[in-house]
Amino acid sequence: MQITKLFAAAVALCLPLTVSAQDIGYGQGIYQQYCATCHGLDGKGSGPLTELMLEKPGDLTLLSANNEVEPGAFPMLRIIHIIDGRTGIRAHGGSMPTYGDIFMSEAAERGQTGSVLETRGRILSLAMYLESIQQ
Ligand code: HEC
Repeated sequence: MQITKLFAAAVALCLPLTVSAQDIGYGQGIYQQYCATCHGLDGKGSGPLTELMLEKPGDLTLLSANNEVEPGAFPMLRIIHIIDGRTGIRAHGGSMPTYGDIFMSEAAERGQTGSVLETRGRILSLAMYLESIQQ
C-alpha cells in the first residue's frame, strides 16, 4: 500500500521516478495477465486474440522510437492515459479495454478501500514495465 501511495503521489506531482527491478516485475505480472492476449508476451503485437481482431495492436517495444513529440523518449504520461482510458486524451476508441475502469471495479468487488490509489499504482507499474521493454 505504501508503494502504491508513493507512485500515486509521484504521478500527481510529475516527479521523476526511480524504477527498481521489483516495480518492473509487478508491472510485468499485470501485463502478462491482462495485456499479452492481444499485445503478445514480447509486446510486439502478436497475441493470440489478434487473429480475431480487425484492428491490430501496434508494437509496444517501439513506443520511444515512435515518439513524435520527443523522439527516443518514453511517452510516460501519454501511455498512462492510454492504459487508463478514462481521461479522454486518447480513450481507446478501438478494441482495447479501458483498464482504469476494470481495475477500479475489481478493487471495489474485493471491497477494498483505496481502490483509486491501487488503480493508479497498477497503471503506473504497467507503464514502467513498458518503458523497460523499449528497444
Ligand atoms: C483486446 C485486445 C487488447 C488488450 C487486452 C490490450 N490492448 Fe492495448 N491496444 C489494443 C489495440 C487494438 C491497440 C491499437 C488501437 C488503439 O490504440 O486503440 C492498442 C494500443 C495500445 C497502446 C498504444 C500503442 C501506441 O502505439 O500508441 C498501448 C500503450 C497499449 N495498447 C497498452 C496496453 C496495455 C498495458 C494493456 C493491458 C493492461 C493492453 N494494452 C491490453 C488492443 C488491446
